[in-house]
Amino acid sequence: MNFLSMAKQRESEGHHIIHLSIGQPDFQPLKPIIDTTIKAINEGKTAYTVSSGIPELRQAISNLYLEDFGLSINSTDEIKITSGGKQGVLASFYSVLNRGDNIIIPEPYWVSYPDMAQLVGAKSITIPMTSDFSLNQDEILSSVTDKRTRAILINSPNNPSSHLLSFEEIQFLKDLVEDHNIFIISDEIYWDYIFTDTPTRTLLTEFDDWRQNIIVINGFAKTYSMTGYRLGWTISNSEIAEGILKIIQATTTCPTNFCQWGGITALKERAQARELINKIFPERRKVLVEEVQKTDGLSLEAIDGAFYGFVKYHFTDRSSEDVAIDILMNANVSVVPGSAFGTSAEGYLRVAFSRSTSEIIEAFNRIRKYLNK
Ligand SMILES: Cc1ncc(COP(=O)(O)O)c(C=O)c1O
Repeated sequence: MNFLSMAKQRESEGHHIIHLSIGQPDFQPLKPIIDTTIKAINEGKTAYTVSSGIPELRQAISNLYLEDFGLSINSTDEIKITSGGKQGVLASFYSVLNRGDNIIIPEPYWVSYPDMAQLVGAKSITIPMTSDFSLNQDEILSSVTDKRTRAILINSPNNPSSHLLSFEEIQFLKDLVEDHNIFIISDEIYWDYIFTDTPTRTLLTEFDDWRQNIIVINGFAKTYSMTGYRLGWTISNSEIAEGILKIIQATTTCPTNFCQWGGITALKERAQARELINKIFPERRKVLVEEVQKTDGLSLEAIDGAFYGFVKYHFTDRSSEDVAIDILMNANVSVVPGSAFGTSAEGYLRVAFSRSTSEIIEAFNRIRKYLNK
């Protein structure tokens, strides 16, 4: 967000900036979603709703998990609709963590998690990343033995690294839960952006008795490009869900009424939304990889999911914040410094490919020109 406002400032001074720092897709929500939302407003669906979210939307989410994964989830007790995935994460933290508890947050992490842990008075135990972005299992094992450790945050596909959990890592998590009885808070918001043969997954299917230990966060922002709708959901056992509900009641009362009706249509349009993603994003990913390869001093691991390349730079040992500022000021391209995602992510830049291929190509032309100078 800081980099976005710096970029906006530069824009207001007359510079043409290419925004590769933003975590939102550039397509509009599909027309039926917009139409339903407008219709809902016109029909007067503008008042508060129940705090859990309208039953029709909860039922639609329950149906999705049943149809796609064979999971039976109680739409009354186990699903809560939140004002964005972000509120889902925060409310889960409040529900699971007491003051003074620890939550393990593997690096690189989405910037908001440690701030949220701080808000609830918990301690983030950040885990240095590995070079291929897989879970740093030794470090996690040594942190989990602390009896105040109550949860681990998992985000797959990962923002910013794009990493997808492997079967071996899932097995590791199963053992972790079994041996230490901690919660997994699984942020699955990028589940429809996958560029490997792995199908869309949820950690819920991996655990025979997920109700004991898993809390899933998901939302409409990324798959349907509904970022401004502020709409998401959580899935958890009913006790945790009660805690989540209290936070919704104490903060936003309920998600926005007409947005929830748009959400129901979004789920009906799921196949079309995924088709759109698969039509646009693999090509952008390919172009990003090619552009990084063409640029001396940059390298990139395979991009598995989400819509970010986590690019390592070798041309200087200056901080990623300095490098990102230099690139913004001299090449008019905005990217996010790796240090935003944890100390061990220093030396990286996050480059979003949520923009057109021509913008990605132009951005790298500018970066190369600047670096050559
Ligand atoms: C990993 C991750 N989780 C959650 C969110 C929040 O999404 P929402 O807009 O639904 O609050 C984001 C948004 O960028 C994200 O990157």
